[in-house]
Amino acid sequence: MKTTLFILSMMIIGGSAIFSSCQQRTKKDLTKEPLIPVPASVTATNSSFVLDEGAMIYFDESSKDLKAVAEQLAILLRPATGYKLEVVPATAAPSEGIYLTTGAGEGDEGYELTITEDLVTISGAAPAGVFYGVQTLRQLLPPSIEASSVQQGPWEIATGTIKDSPEYNYRGMMLDVARHFFGVDDVKRLIDLLAIYKINHLHLHLSDDQGWRIEIKSWPKLTAHGGKLEVGGTEGGFYTQEQYKDIVKYAADRFITIVPEIDMPGHTNAALASYAELNCDNKARELYTGTKVGFSTLCTDKEVVYKFIDDVVREISEMTPGPYFHIGGDESHVTPMEDYIPFIERAQDIVAKYGKKVIGWDEIAHAGLKPNTIVQYWAKAENAIRGIEKGAKVLISPATKTYLDMQYDSTTHLGLHWAAYVEVDSAYMWDPATLEKGITKDDIIGVESALWTETITNMEELEYMVFPRLVGHAEIGWSPAGKRNWDEYKVRLSKQAPRFKALGIDYYKSKLVPWIE
Ligand code: ACM
Repeated sequence: MKTTLFILSMMIIGGSAIFSSCQQRTKKDLTKEPLIPVPASVTATNSSFVLDEGAMIYFDESSKDLKAVAEQLAILLRPATGYKLEVVPATAAPSEGIYLTTGAGEGDEGYELTITEDLVTISGAAPAGVFYGVQTLRQLLPPSIEASSVQQGPWEIATGTIKDSPEYNYRGMMLDVARHFFGVDDVKRLIDLLAIYKINHLHLHLSDDQGWRIEIKSWPKLTAHGGKLEVGGTEGGFYTQEQYKDIVKYAADRFITIVPEIDMPGHTNAALASYAELNCDNKARELYTGTKVGFSTLCTDKEVVYKFIDDVVREISEMTPGPYFHIGGDESHVTPMEDYIPFIERAQDIVAKYGKKVIGWDEIAHAGLKPNTIVQYWAKAENAIRGIEKGAKVLISPATKTYLDMQYDSTTHLGLHWAAYVEVDSAYMWDPATLEKGITKDDIIGVESALWTETITNMEELEYMVFPRLVGHAEIGWSPAGKRNWDEYKVRLSKQAPRFKALGIDYYKSKLVPWIE
């Protein structure tokens, strides 16, 4: 029995060795691969690696957290390949398979991906870098790798070396879950899609006039009443604290930081409808399901308002490991400036008390700013520049380029166009560091795309507005400006089409892109 097993196992080992050494290899050119975001440096060695049945995924066991990244890679590759892809600890580089390790790569997010005929090595300075190397490897494999059932191989990739690291530390997307609510599963799918393109922040706009979407235990009517509806009068919803923590964890596993936003002192009708005492006249407002802006304000000279903000910031900060708390601050048209300024200054103090850094829309630059405060430029460059003069850094989200609810053109059946029509080329052809005179690269922490959801009611609509523009924004945030060029990008983007299809993404097929099916 023992002998038979021995012979059998020798045959299997021998068989797979013969298989890989005799395999016909294609001469593949790594520099021609349509990667998005385009990497900082690619060197080709003009052969190929084939992922085969017996391949294993090794992780350097001395590096904390690599096991989780290795397991995610296996989970990603198993459905389409049908292979077992065992995940195994290693103390040194193996001779074949896929090996995740640390040591190379710039900064926290940089990585080196080295592909030889026998071995794929992904090395990052930190696990985040290894995770991004995995995303690059994923895009080097045929698009059918994204399928959820077994597909025909071969799973062949070009050999060579990619050295890569991001231009900006903050690469984000904002989702408005207040105007229309999106549940946990939708947010998780979005997180999965963001990770493919190396986006590392998801900003959730958790409150607005039309709805309050996060459970606050000390102010329960915010969700019990203020979360009931959404734009159009349909049923709203909210995240329980357990669900919010689940989203935070799911995102963190994909190296995405959740940035919670509670908009104040305007955009607060849902809170004003839930608690009469937050209004200057002590009268609760009606729930609002329209789409006007700028009509609501917290009563800025009432102490109870600051007690409310303190409780909200405390409860959310306790569940949020990330460094930021977004206080909104936009379009407070009915808050007199002499009330707005001290309000924003006090709100910053409350956020600092709970150990978080403030982000606010560009209007907050009218107030005094704490040293770590970040101004999110969406409308007025003069506000962002005012913020810079006060020592702030800027998060770049110009509505004319990065607002994903802006229509592509006059025929788009969803969205709005108050800032601009934003076709796929316009969304791509700009550079944060040169967009506005007076805002330089050193002033910028990164780029964020924003999807406001007045007209967006479900995932299909969301994906149509987000894809493919977000993919271009992801490249703007990650890749060096000198490597970006629309004519070349549109060809790389066209080759994402089968990947979008395999992922079930309902994207906008812009006529400006030579899509391949
Ligand atoms: C905004 O679009 N009101 C920030």
